Amino acid sequence: MSIEAVIFDLDGVICHTDQYHYQAWKTIADRLSIPFDERINARMRGVSRLESLEILLEQSGKNFSQEEKERLAEEKNRIYQSFLRKMTPADLERETFRALNTLREMNLKLAIGSSSRNTALILHRLGLDGFFDAVADGTQIKHSKPNPEVFLLAASLLGVQPSKTLVVEDAPAGIQAAKMGGFVVAGLGDAVEEPGTDFPILALNDLCLICSML
Ligand code: G6P
Ligand code: MG
Repeated sequence: MSIEAVIFDLDGVICHTDQYHYQAWKTIADRLSIPFDERINARMRGVSRLESLEILLEQSGKNFSQEEKERLAEEKNRIYQSFLRKMTPADLERETFRALNTLREMNLKLAIGSSSRNTALILHRLGLDGFFDAVADGTQIKHSKPNPEVFLLAASLLGVQPSKTLVVEDAPAGIQAAKMGGFVVAGLGDAVEEPGTDFPILALNDLCLICSML
């Protein structure tokens, strides 16, 4: 098999924390009377917290100081973390856990590549501490997706070549990042039709077949 490793995005791929991001941003937007919907939220997938805030503020028609922006980003994160703290290992879907274990039995190295600075907290809440061979996240990078930095870091921590690594993403910015980094790309959800997706998939279990074919 030419694929040696799989790097997973976290929010929207391993778990459904993407809905908590939406609810937290929506709370901020409503308070500031800024229009916000799923379409605007979709542009925030994969991009950093502060860049997401910039997208939200585009609709405000006002200028915010750097200090105000940092306060808003912190407030959003507090709301978001209040959802994360309620998560338990039961929030990890059985099918997801099964697919991860099957890929591991196929001797593939497994990693996380996420722009989120909450990655360690989420993996802990899901009972996945220490499960992955490498974790590259928003605390370790300068540029979030669509820059390939987080995936290249994950590959280098695993000691694998991008061309022998499958990246699994649900966000257009993540697909672009993986493509730019020279990875093989599987896309879920919104990402199935994104140019750059080599393998559109419906569920993580589909990865087992793809990896055994390649
Ligand atoms: C992921 C999510 C984005 C989020 C980013 C930063 O990439 O898809 O929606 O903005 O992480 O998340 P954080 O947990 O650091 O605020
Ligand atoms: Mg995602």
